[in-house]
Amino acid sequence: MSSVIKAENIVLAYKSHEPIIRNTTFDIKSNEFVFITGKSGSGKSTVIKSMYGALKPSFGDLTVCGVKMKNVSSGKLKFLRKHLGVVFQDYKLINEWSVEQNVMLPLMIGGFSPQVCKVQAQKLLKHVDMIDKMRSFPMELSGGEQQRVAMARALAHNPVVILADEPTGNLDDYSSEIIWDLLKSAKKHLGTTIVAVTHKIPQTIATDYKQYFLDNGKMHEVI
Ligand SMILES: Nc1ncnc2c1ncn2[C@@H]1O[C@H](COP(=O)(O)OP(=O)(O)OP(=O)(O)O)[C@@H](O)[C@H]1O
Ligand SMILES: [Mg+2]
Repeated sequence: MSSVIKAENIVLAYKSHEPIIRNTTFDIKSNEFVFITGKSGSGKSTVIKSMYGALKPSFGDLTVCGVKMKNVSSGKLKFLRKHLGVVFQDYKLINEWSVEQNVMLPLMIGGFSPQVCKVQAQKLLKHVDMIDKMRSFPMELSGGEQQRVAMARALAHNPVVILADEPTGNLDDYSSEIIWDLLKSAKKHLGTTIVAVTHKIPQTIATDYKQYFLDNGKMHEVI
């Protein structure tokens, strides 16, 4: 299986003298379902940030979908992000846009016609049980509702990789199940590679997965 995200001895730091991730190596293959776990503050979101290019490694090599992240240009990053679906821990929905427009965004960037974008956005909003609120604005939604819209947006353009930072952090068991089922289905039917940060691996996950535990600045594979 080919590598989709490969890190070799990477160091991730916000301040050069205080690395958060130290000399860490990992290899995520195409179509894998990967959980990243670890206690609060251990660096899970930091690792996800490096994968979408918001934080570049200070040392070591990180390659995402064939793009070398160390000195990546903004043009290359723009290209890469078309292949990524990101669910941010704090959702990052656009407050001035309706739920439907938020989900249409990655499709519009992909150059699809407004009609195609609308149909696809509405299909995904049905999946996350948010179709009734498609005309609402993010500030009018609960945290869990915003999280479900963020998931619909991440899946909308059928990305190669989904990077999901605590995608069920604000959801009850019922809504969490919907989200995990959607991710499982993307892996199974679309061949998507899933990287999800969570502090609780769902008991009902029922798919092959790989788990990394982040501790003391390193990713340890849990076998
Ligand atoms: N923008 C930033 N500037 C400086 N330090 C940061 C920044 N973002 C995070 N950190 C620090 O990096 C460390 C790891 O943070 P990170 O957000 O990756 O943790 P996390 O594992 O995702 O935690 P949580 O489970 O609470 O979301 C923390 O000590 C945090 O203070
Ligand atoms: Mg985090």
